[in-house]
Order: sequence, then C-alpha cells, then structure tokens
Amino acid sequence: MATIIINIGKLLGLHANQPLKIPAVNDVAYIDNAWLLITDGKIKQWGSGTTWQAAAIAASQIIDAEGGWIMPAFCDSHTHIVFDAWREKEFEDRINGLTYQEIFARGGGILNSVERLRKADEVKLYDDAYQRLYSMMLQGTGAIEIKSGYGLSLESELKMLRVIRKLKNQTPVIIKSTFLGAHAVPVEFKNDMAGYIKHIIDDMLPAIADEGLADFCDVFCEQDYFTADDTKLILETAAKYGMKPKVHAEQLSHSNGISTGINCNAISVDHLEFCNEADIDALSAGNTIATILPGAQFFLSLQKPPARQLINAGAIVALATDYNPGSSPMGNMALMMSMACIMYKFTPQQSFNAATINGAFAMDVGASTGSIVEGKCANLILTKPLPSLAFIPYAVGHTFIESVFINGIKQ
Ligand code: NIG
Ligand code: FE
Repeated sequence: MATIIINIGKLLGLHANQPLKIPAVNDVAYIDNAWLLITDGKIKQWGSGTTWQAAAIAASQIIDAEGGWIMPAFCDSHTHIVFDAWREKEFEDRINGLTYQEIFARGGGILNSVERLRKADEVKLYDDAYQRLYSMMLQGTGAIEIKSGYGLSLESELKMLRVIRKLKNQTPVIIKSTFLGAHAVPVEFKNDMAGYIKHIIDDMLPAIADEGLADFCDVFCEQDYFTADDTKLILETAAKYGMKPKVHAEQLSHSNGISTGINCNAISVDHLEFCNEADIDALSAGNTIATILPGAQFFLSLQKPPARQLINAGAIVALATDYNPGSSPMGNMALMMSMACIMYKFTPQQSFNAATINGAFAMDVGASTGSIVEGKCANLILTKPLPSLAFIPYAVGHTFIESVFINGIKQ
C-alpha cells in the first residue's frame, strides 16, 4: 500500500538518525513545496516541485496537503497516563497554601493515586488510559513512554504494566513501558524503607522481567522518596534484567539524581529544576539525555530548570509532558514547545527538535521515528498552512494540526 502526499508547503525535520545538540539543534532541516511517498506505513521517498508525478505511479492514494506542512509526530518520552482518578482537590489545597511535599506528607499526592489505583479494575484503567492516549495522538503524539508507579505492590505494578502492554498491542502508537516501583514508599512499608527496596529487588523486578513488561526502570530520586544510593542499587539491578535506567532527578531539591543516572548509563534524567553547574558539565560531556518537563514545573510553580543553559553547554535536551494527575495534567506536546520558548527561551527550532527527534532518542526509538528518514514509521503531523515555524509555539492553545498520520494512516 503506497500513499503520496503532495502540495506540502514545507517538509520539516529532515534529520538523520541521531540526537541533536548544539549547533545542529538550532536548525530544523526542511524543503519547500514538497511531496512525500509512504509505502507500507514507512517513509519511502520525498522531493520537491512536480517530481512527485514519477513517484505517484507507485501510489494507490494521493493526498493533497493544500499547502499545509508535514513534520514528524511528537515523541513524548515521559508520561504517567495510567491512573484511576484526577487530583483536583489537591490543586485546590495548593491554591490554599499547601505545598506538593506537604500534601504527600499527609498521605496524598502519589499515595492518593496509589490508593485509588489498587482498587481500580484493570479494564477501567485501560479504557481511561486509551482515551488519554487517543486524545494525545490527535494532538500530534506518535510515540510515547508510559510509566507504572501508582501500584507500589507486586500485584498492582503488574496490573499497571499489563495495561501498558495492552496499549502497546492494541494501538498503532509507538509505546515504551517503564517500571517505576520506586516512585514512593507505600504505606505498608512506611517504617521499613529497606524492606520496600528489598521487595522491589527480590520480587518485583524478577516478576516484571519474567513477563517482559518493562523496557526501562525509573526511580524518583528525591528527599522523602529514594536516595541516590537506593537509586543506584535499583537501577543496577534492573539493568541486569535488561531494563535501561531513567531517573526522576533534581525536581524538588538537589538529590544527586543526575550524577547517579549518568553513572548508571541512564538513557535520560528528567525534570532537573535543581540541576547545578557540575550537572550541566556532566550532561554536556555525555550521552544521557536531559529531559525537561515544563508542564510539571509550571503546574507546581517550581523554580525553572537551567534548560537553555543545558542546550548552550552542549547537552542533548528533550521535552516531554509528564502527563499525570498530580503535577502535570496535560498531554499536549505543542504546549510544551510554547512553554519551553516562553519560560526557558528555547528558540522555536530548539523546541521542535527537543519535542521530536531528541524525545525519540530519550525513549530509544530514534531509529524508527522522530525525523523524516527513509524507513522510519510514517508517524506524521499535517499542519494547516503556517506562516512560519515560530507560529507553532507562538500560537499558544490554537490548534495548528490539520490531521495526524500513524504508520501512514490518517487518524
Ligand atoms: O513526574 N515527580 C514524581 N512523579 C510525578 C508526579 C506524580 C504525581 O504527583 O502523581 C512527576 O512529577
Ligand atoms: Fe514523572
């Protein structure tokens, strides 16, 4: 099955299979007045002007973009979209003066979501997560990482990860799964932190590996959650089971999550509000991706991460939504681009690359999506005709999307 898209105003994101850092991250490669041939759900060939006529012979379907642009679909490398209930009551508590940490100390926050998720039926969790994923897809997301971490018992972590596996099997979006058993210490281990870590290591990791349920393992390295030593132990053990490390690092304080992640060869370290100069140097010198989550920083009114400094220093920077009910109830990647430009002074080009190709590498799918390369999945956004690339992050909240293609099929 072959499809050709013609009359494309600009074909954007013509980048090779590698994450972008300075200076390449400053530019978005494109051609004007383009066409794109898709065969068997994959990008096959492109060109400009009327040269499409020769390629069209192979195509059974011709789509007229009418001057709209084609770009790679967004790659959202950090989400928690499997949950039972929203937490707007805590939103009100914070308006009335409580902090995120104070709410957690009272047994709310992540533990509130845990209490709900444990009681929730797996089919209901799947249906809700499916709706969220579908809505994200229509907002341009073609690849997504989804974490567990609201179960915190063997049974409930398996329940979450099975929901994610079902989403992998039953939706066309590219999905990677992450085991986040070290998201918080559950109430039954309140006074036995070491016991909970032992439970993760002796019981959860082997069982999850047995069913092949997780691509990555993540730890919330933070005061009152897990220390850098706990993080190292859990990530090193997970790596033995083939789960690549990720870290929730330096979100609420400086907890050495970044350096621990780098030492464990983490694929990414995420959040980074309290990232310091030494961390910036270390990230710039290596390949661990610095994933910035503007939704959570904005929603919790945290201090800003040194995101633009990270780019300038030579780190690989990705943007993701952190979609979850407590700190970022939003799944729109274009909004993350806007926030990154407004709050951290990313250029529109940097925000585009961080939300596409670099996000793909932050979840290990850079070889199959995130840019326009022959053989990559045709996970694409067709935009309305746009005056410039800057219009995407500039027009906050406007929809710039005409349609979304996943594996070459219009959704
Ligand atoms: O990425 N920081 C830790 N975990 C999530 C929040 C989870 C929650 O509040 O439910 C985050 O912000
Ligand atoms: Fe998170």
